[in-house]
Amino acid sequence: MTHRRILVITGAGVSAESGIPTFRGKDGYWRNLDPMKLATPGAFARDPSLVWDWYRERRQRIRNAQPNPAHRAIAKLAGQTSEFLLVTQNVDDLHLRAGLPREKIVQIHGDIFITRCSRCDFKRHEHEHEHDDDGLPKCPECGALMRPGVVWFGEELDAAKIETVENFMTDSGCDLVIVAGTTALFGYIIDWALRGRGQTGQLIEVNPEETSLSQFANKSFREPAGIVLPRLVNELVADLVSDRLRRASPYR
Ligand code: OAD
Repeated sequence: MTHRRILVITGAGVSAESGIPTFRGKDGYWRNLDPMKLATPGAFARDPSLVWDWYRERRQRIRNAQPNPAHRAIAKLAGQTSEFLLVTQNVDDLHLRAGLPREKIVQIHGDIFITRCSRCDFKRHEHEHEHDDDGLPKCPECGALMRPGVVWFGEELDAAKIETVENFMTDSGCDLVIVAGTTALFGYIIDWALRGRGQTGQLIEVNPEETSLSQFANKSFREPAGIVLPRLVNELVADLVSDRLRRASPYR
């Protein structure tokens, strides 16, 4: 079976082998605080300095991290088909740094390196270094408090990003959906995975643990993404190449 239209959905597990703690894993806690309680508008309203400290530390950890074989395998797969989209819940930039073109990535939970105004539309990118090393960043346009450009629990997703994902789905679905390194707890992630594969497509899950999507998957690989994805992508790429040769052949 050949896979020409491919949707990949990733979560924190894909960056775990780069040393970025997952949210619900044992290393997720920071200063004994539950990330699920820090990544909320309420936590920021109560203690913006604490929340900024957490984000600055995570930014620094991500700057020091490198893409792992899972990120590189996904970028390789994308290079083999023109119909490819990655929906990642990760706010790090490791997919991008692994060579996946920006236009093929939807960071559905935002980008940790964006600092944006909590009142007006001002935002800036801070990958290289922090604009404001400590203290609370204030908007240069309107003076309001700035916040990380991520989606917190209880906040709405960006409508333009939803549209990009929906436009990719098409009525007939994708040939293949790969879901890697996510607990898949959000309804929209489950919905995109299931609608994405449509009636005839394949759904492959890569996760050492069982998830709510496992029961729907055609195949589940219970190993780390950095082990499974390079192997899986090599097989898929071989399929894609032989499919292209077959279609180009005058004897088909
Ligand atoms: P989680 O921390 O909930 O889950 C990480 C998943 O990765 C788990 O299912 C692990 O079993 C799996 N995992 C761990 N190591 C792995 C590895 N080496 N290879 C493959 N899988 C591995 O992270 P997410 O599912 O990404 O949202 O969480 C989704 C969202 O919830 C996050 O984007 C964040 C969060 O709280 C917001 O902040 C809005």
